[in-house]
Amino acid sequence: MRVLLTGHKGYLGTVMAPVLKAAGHEVHGLDSGLFAPCLLGPAPLDPPGHTVDLRDVQLSHVEGFDAVIHLAALSNDPLGALAPDLTYDINHRASTRLARLARDAGVRRFLYASTCSVYGASGGDGLVGEDAPLRPVTPYAESKVRVEDDLHDLADDDFTPVYLRNATAFGYSPRLRADIVLNNLVGHAFLSGEVLVLSDGTPWRPLVHAADIARAFAAALTAPRDAVHDKAFNIGTERNNVTVAEIANEVVEAVPGSTLRITGEAGADPRSYRVDFSRFRAAIPGFDCEWSVKAGAVELIEAYQKHGLTKEAFERRFTRLAWLNDRSAAGAVDGTLRHV
Ligand SMILES: NC(=O)c1ccc[n+]([C@@H]2O[C@H](COP(=O)([O-])OP(=O)(O)OC[C@H]3O[C@@H](n4cnc5c(N)ncnc54)[C@H](O)[C@@H]3O)[C@@H](O)[C@H]2O)c1
Repeated sequence: MRVLLTGHKGYLGTVMAPVLKAAGHEVHGLDSGLFAPCLLGPAPLDPPGHTVDLRDVQLSHVEGFDAVIHLAALSNDPLGALAPDLTYDINHRASTRLARLARDAGVRRFLYASTCSVYGASGGDGLVGEDAPLRPVTPYAESKVRVEDDLHDLADDDFTPVYLRNATAFGYSPRLRADIVLNNLVGHAFLSGEVLVLSDGTPWRPLVHAADIARAFAAALTAPRDAVHDKAFNIGTERNNVTVAEIANEVVEAVPGSTLRITGEAGADPRSYRVDFSRFRAAIPGFDCEWSVKAGAVELIEAYQKHGLTKEAFERRFTRLAWLNDRSAAGAVDGTLRHV
C-alpha cells in the first residue's frame, strides 16, 4: 500500500516507518519537524516526506495514497495544559481537516493514533473496555475524543477510519521521549542512581512498547474492512497493566545500584485504570504484544549507556515541553508552534 505517515519524525513515527517498510508498504511522511533533532544515537533513515504543518495541509498532500496513518499531534498532557487552544487547533481541528481531505482524495483507510487517556478517571478495579464511558480529564485527551467523534461522522462505504487507543508507550526510539513514565524513570535512575516516584505509586498505568504499537498499526492497515471499520481498539496487553510502584521496581532491578524513593508529594494522579485489550486480539487473529515492561527497562538502560544520555539532554532535548520552550526562547518557533 502507499501510506502517508504523519508525525514520522516523532518518537513513535520513527519506530513505525521501518516496520511499515519491512511489511512491504511504500511510506511517505508528513511532519513539521518540531522534534526532528531530538536524537539519541545515530540518525535514522527517514522515509521521503513533506515538511509541512498539519494546519497547512492541502489536498495534494494526501492524493494518491491508499491509507493515512495519523500520528502528528501535540503529544502529551503538559503540552495540552500549556496551550489548550493550540492543542484543539492542531490535535482536533487540523486532524479532522486532514481526514476530510483524505476522504475527498479517495484515501480508503485512516488509522488514527488515539489514547487510553480518553478513559481518564474511569478508575475502579475492573478492566476498561472500548465501550466504557469516555471521561477525558485534559485538553489533550479531550481533543482525541473529539477527533474520534468527527471521524465516526466521516465513515462511509469508501472511507474506513480506525481509532487505535494506545496505552502509554515505552522503549527506545532514535527520537527519544523522556517524558513518558518508563523512559523517564530509567533515565533518572541512570543519571542519579535513584528511581524517583513523585506520586504515591498506587495509580494503574497501561504500558505498551513503541514497536508493539507499530506492529498493531501495520496489522490494522491490512485487516479486512469489516474487522476494523469505524471501530475503536485499545492497543497494549493486560500483562503490562501495572502500578507506578511496580514500574519503579522493574527499573530498580534493571539499573544496577539504583534505589527506590517514593515521595508521594504529588498525591495520587486522578488517572488510574487497567485496560482490556482483547478486542484488538479478536479482530486481528494472531496479534499480541511482545514486549514486557522488564525487557523495555533493560533495553532503555542499554541504549542510555551506549549512546551516553546526558542530564541536559534528558531534561530538555527529550522532554517535549521543555524542548519547545527552549526553541521558543531561541526564536526558532513562534507562539503558535510554527517555525520562524
Ligand atoms: N507516546 C505515547 O505514549 C502515546 C500514547 C498514546 C497516543 N499517542 C499518540 O501517538 C502520536 C505520536 O506520539 P509520539 O509519542 O510519537 O509524539 P511526538 O511528540 O514524539 O511526535 C509527534 C510528531 O507530530 C509532529 N507535529 C506536532 N505538531 C505538528 C503540526 N502542527 N504539524 C505537523 N506535525 C506536527 C511533531 O513534529 C512530532 O514529530 C500522537 O498523536 C500521540 O498523541 C502517543
